[in-house]
Amino acid sequence: MKVTVVGGGKMGLPLACVFASRGAEVTVCDVDSAKVASINAGVCPFEEPGVDELLAEGVKKGVLKATTDTASAIAQSEVVVVIVPVMLSDAREADLTIIDQVAEIASRSLKPGSMISFETTLPVGGTRRLGGIIDKGGLRAGVDYDLVFSPERVKSLYVLAHLFKNPKIVGGITPASAARAEEFYSKYLGAPVINVGSLEAAELVKLAGMIYRDVNIALANELALFAERMGLDFEPIRAAANTDGESNLLLPGIGVGGHCTPVYPYFLINEARTRGIPVELAELARKINVSQPRKVLDKIGNVKGKKCIVLGVSFRPQVKESAYSPAFTLVTELNQRGAEVTVHDPLYTDEEIRKLGLEPGEIEGNEIIVLNTAHDAYRDLDFARLAKAGLRCVVDGRNLWDPDEVSKHGISYVGVGRVPRW
Ligand SMILES: NC(=O)c1ccc[n+]([C@@H]2O[C@H](COP(=O)([O-])OP(=O)(O)OC[C@H]3O[C@@H](n4cnc5c(N)ncnc54)[C@H](O)[C@@H]3O)[C@@H](O)[C@H]2O)c1
Repeated sequence: MKVTVVGGGKMGLPLACVFASRGAEVTVCDVDSAKVASINAGVCPFEEPGVDELLAEGVKKGVLKATTDTASAIAQSEVVVVIVPVMLSDAREADLTIIDQVAEIASRSLKPGSMISFETTLPVGGTRRLGGIIDKGGLRAGVDYDLVFSPERVKSLYVLAHLFKNPKIVGGITPASAARAEEFYSKYLGAPVINVGSLEAAELVKLAGMIYRDVNIALANELALFAERMGLDFEPIRAAANTDGESNLLLPGIGVGGHCTPVYPYFLINEARTRGIPVELAELARKINVSQPRKVLDKIGNVKGKKCIVLGVSFRPQVKESAYSPAFTLVTELNQRGAEVTVHDPLYTDEEIRKLGLEPGEIEGNEIIVLNTAHDAYRDLDFARLAKAGLRCVVDGRNLWDPDEVSKHGISYVGVGRVPRW
């Protein structure tokens, strides 16, 4: 089975390695030639547990290689899996430029009788639209080739662990396309497969999961604020509420980041608006979560002229990914309020922080610390020493520290859903 994976990134490369380890002959296509060279040398270009070993083995056995020539790889494959990014435009619309380019290449190179499966998260109707682009080359989706949508539902640092465990959702343009996808993923991925039938159903599975998470976090943020105002610590309440076998309240926090949760709800919201379908809860969750960094900062009042540092650029602990990180909103808000703001992250060099448009700084010597990311490196800060160096206030956006431990050094403590210590 000759398989092409278009997009050799954090999701595409592990997937390609698994296909190769289960007997496929895999070509990874990427526009980044440095990435292609690294893959061909058997070295994973990013950190992802277990992928280094699988990649080295695949390259050594000659069943896994990479190229920048997407057209010729597609032309030689029976199955094509596409997992390139779709981000948000400034107008919060899905930016389909890259994936459209891939579909256009497929329109010129896809073999009759092959199957193309899109795994990138798409708006409902997105795969059918891509099929329209491919069909311009002369083949007809569902007749001359199989068109499939199968959302990727794993996350960085847990990719291999989750790839086999999370059921793989598939839907096709015809029942035969969906059945073929079911067969392919069962054999070459090895995860349980759920065939939901149509392309649109499979697309909605992914968006529904994302919106569930966004709404859940918005609810946790709202309940956390209520608890705090009532003089209650929310965390033990949340944990207790979650013991009834029905509730699964997620953690409140200073903001939602990443290229998934704050992005994909808009795919559905935009479509719903166009069609006049009410999705008020999804919209409200976005509104609550977008305003969360500002609301948490409001608790500390005037910051004008104060030296302040935001800890953590990453949107997730221990992961060097900053897409839609609340750090950006926090810095903008603090600047607008007149603070002198710098940023620190143990995973980023000063140069990398500057490239993101932020100013790097040292943890010591600030009057205010705002924690955005619960990196392990921040767990055991020496608050006695920081207090001596001028620290007066901590905004613990991830409830990482013990409030009493912080406040005993004369530092004000503000968390999320925790009774402040002034
Ligand atoms: N990262 C996650 O945690 C995650 C989780 C679930 C689903 N996803 C889905 O996977 C998609 C990709 O995410 P990722 O983390 O792998 O991104 P990534 O940025 O790590 O990888 C994308 C790769 O695509 C390559 N690329 C860009 N344009 C290309 C083109 N025209 N042809 C070939 N390759 C091209 C890039 O060079 C890059 O190597 C996301 O858009 C999302 O839909 C991601």
